[in-house]
Amino acid sequence: MTRSFHTYVTREIPAVGLNLLTSAGSVETWQGDTPPPRDELLARVAESDALLCLLSDRIDAEVLDAAPRLKVISTYAVGTDNIDVAAATERGICVCNTPGILTDATADTAWALLLAASRRVVEGDRMVRSGEWRSWGPQLLLGQPFAGRTLGILGMGRIGQAVARRGTGFGMRILYHNRRPDPEAEAALGARYVDLETLLRESDFLSIHTPLTPETRGLIDRDALDRMKPTAVLVNTARGPVVDEAALADALRDGRLFAAGLDVFDREPIGADHPLCGLRNVVLLPHLGSADVATREEMARVAAVAILDVMAGRLPAHLVNSDVWDHRR
Ligand code: DGY
Repeated sequence: MTRSFHTYVTREIPAVGLNLLTSAGSVETWQGDTPPPRDELLARVAESDALLCLLSDRIDAEVLDAAPRLKVISTYAVGTDNIDVAAATERGICVCNTPGILTDATADTAWALLLAASRRVVEGDRMVRSGEWRSWGPQLLLGQPFAGRTLGILGMGRIGQAVARRGTGFGMRILYHNRRPDPEAEAALGARYVDLETLLRESDFLSIHTPLTPETRGLIDRDALDRMKPTAVLVNTARGPVVDEAALADALRDGRLFAAGLDVFDREPIGADHPLCGLRNVVLLPHLGSADVATREEMARVAAVAILDVMAGRLPAHLVNSDVWDHRR
């Protein structure tokens, strides 16, 4: 067992996580409010046994090669698409994440976007603040209803199921598409498995919950968007590159899609000059999926415990590359 070890943390995370790490070893935390510059990251991992990173840090072979002592990468996220997991496995480095904890928070965010986009909450708020609200109007900012409509879930994992569960409370019919059917989810939610084509065609609301993989990158492209109803609302709280942003902006601008709600983008952060920022019928959030106080604290705790476990020779609860365990550094 390693009794004392050094962890580099790429951003200030809730104290519960940092306190656990400092109780077991030395810790250095990047104090900036954007990711550490590349040179800084390379220099810091060179002297670290453990790395606690965020989804905004690119952890690739160059970083791993600069880190001869590194035994564990613990990401403060469920998604691991920013980490070259295969390269970590080759080098005997454990990769851990925080699944399960942020399920409800992310499902809540998806629903915040579904509601805001379909009922034009942001447009209404702007109208009131700008003094442009002149009268109650029979045609004022009409949106799309939920009850009796179809909620399509793309990716029926934990978060997809939590979004679907909330949809049943709104009296919606649930369709889903996944790598494979999930009979348990179907029984619990009354959901029906369909192919992607049917999901696109029949959904009044489509919520994306797939991880970013080579198969899902660009899955919702121009062709997919063309298959959706012009009254449909698209929400993405998974990963930006699953959706072709340029094609989405065109569809929203041309009225081929009613509205969208996005928490994630192809390249984050986007600036005010991004084509989506000029559209009234899209609600944009700065990747807030898991951003509630309790969830972020629990993510910090779990990410720190994973490091403590690996450094103590205990199998961590959420090891992404489980095949590394028997040949870890
Ligand atoms: C994750 O953990 O992958 C989420 O995107 C964070 O909000």
